[in-house]
Amino acid sequence: MTKVKSESATLSLKGKSFELPVHSSSLGPDVIDIRNLYRDANVFTYDPGYTSTASCDSSITFIDGENGKLLYRGYPIEQLARASHYLEVCYLLLYGDLPNREQLEDFETRVTRHTMVHEQLLFLYRGFRRDAHPMAIACGVVGALSAFYHDSTDVNDPLQREIASIRMIAKIPTIAAMAYKYSIGQPFVYPRNDHDYASNFLQMCFSVPAEDYRVNSVMSRALDRIFMLHADHEQNASTSTVRLAGSSGANPFACVAAGIACLWGPAHGGANQACLEILKEIGTVDRIPEYIKRARDRSDPFRLMGFGHRVYKNYDPRAQVIKESADEVLDYLGTKDKPILKVAKELERIALQDDYFVEKRLYPNVDFYSGIILEALGFPTSMFTPIFALSRTVGWIAQWKEMLADPVQKIGRPRQRYTGMSTREYVRISDRP
Ligand code: SDX
Repeated sequence: MTKVKSESATLSLKGKSFELPVHSSSLGPDVIDIRNLYRDANVFTYDPGYTSTASCDSSITFIDGENGKLLYRGYPIEQLARASHYLEVCYLLLYGDLPNREQLEDFETRVTRHTMVHEQLLFLYRGFRRDAHPMAIACGVVGALSAFYHDSTDVNDPLQREIASIRMIAKIPTIAAMAYKYSIGQPFVYPRNDHDYASNFLQMCFSVPAEDYRVNSVMSRALDRIFMLHADHEQNASTSTVRLAGSSGANPFACVAAGIACLWGPAHGGANQACLEILKEIGTVDRIPEYIKRARDRSDPFRLMGFGHRVYKNYDPRAQVIKESADEVLDYLGTKDKPILKVAKELERIALQDDYFVEKRLYPNVDFYSGIILEALGFPTSMFTPIFALSRTVGWIAQWKEMLADPVQKIGRPRQRYTGMSTREYVRISDRP
């Protein structure tokens, strides 16, 4: 818990003054503690979308939206993306510090040995239509994990919380890959313990029993970097959903399923799929002005997916790194002149100069370039958000564990500004007009 600052905030209301404690943060804005406001002043605060509300204490991720900075446990994302790898970042997010060799090896072994799913789960997939969106399948299968792993659903048992955490991080790639295989009518491919995390996901998605499959190291490195960049992001919509579900004591698998459901929305994790579809719809550089015009038009519901962010009012630092990866992957594939990359770069250049985007401080976010890489790796657009969910599972789990360990934690239960009818008497249908 951060120390309460000496000064406080004074609220003057209806002729009375209320002193509200101010807590300092180790980085970023101080917070005004309003926990007793309703009790003392009989008023609620009002903040639709929680634009100015801190919902919790957290030491996992810090975002400086004004300056486009992102820290995982204090380490800048661009340093981790270039020097670390996903499972090391998972360890950092879960336990707070970078592991030594022995700790990392133990963690990687524990995760690797939990990558298979219960064989009965295969039958659950058979109940879906082949054209089901992989996010629909992931929602259902992850939620069903609590029907299989009863020995890791007691959230009050630290050991069960740890086992559930490892199981969730280990199995989410297998579940996502199985959803992909099911959608294309190919047999499921089992995980392999002699592959690293990203390589395992690639072989589960793209290998077939009919021939040997060799993972391309450029591809697995690019995918591992995408996993790292999407691992956590403070109290975003899906993480807040996981925390809220967890605050009732729901089991971790149900909480992650709730997070997957929220991430699916096009305003959130679904933006990477929507963004690539828009880039394809634009098709050529000469059609960009037409779409910029639509994005500027408030009467047009069209938004330029992959642009804008609730917190970043500067360049999303993840977008910078992903843009480099997109160049590397397409350069390696010899498709650097791919029209879609040209459209993306020209769209970014124009948008960053456009007064509407400048005035509203709309910059490319993490979803703007990720779809270009994922498509180059061979994934269909329907797999983009499942890959985001796969990456974010460690962040959801780390935040869920932190929430449960927080001494001031209680069930999340916001209030409302009621705008409905006052009390009125029931009227029998025979007396109604
Ligand atoms: C993610 O929160 C996180 O951390 C999320 C995330 C994570 O890692 O978890 O970073 C991942 O979700 C990234 C964002 C992906 N979404 C998109 O790319 C979808 C397109 N972007 C927008 O929908 C929007 O920018 C949001 C949802 C991301 C943020 O919306 P806000 O903060 O609620 O801001 P807003 O919608 O109020 O927009 C402010 C203004 C509005 O205009 P006015 O009403 O003031 O006239 O900017 C406009 C918006 O119309 N605007 C856009 C726009 N985004 C905002 N106009 C055109 N195109 C856009 N993309």
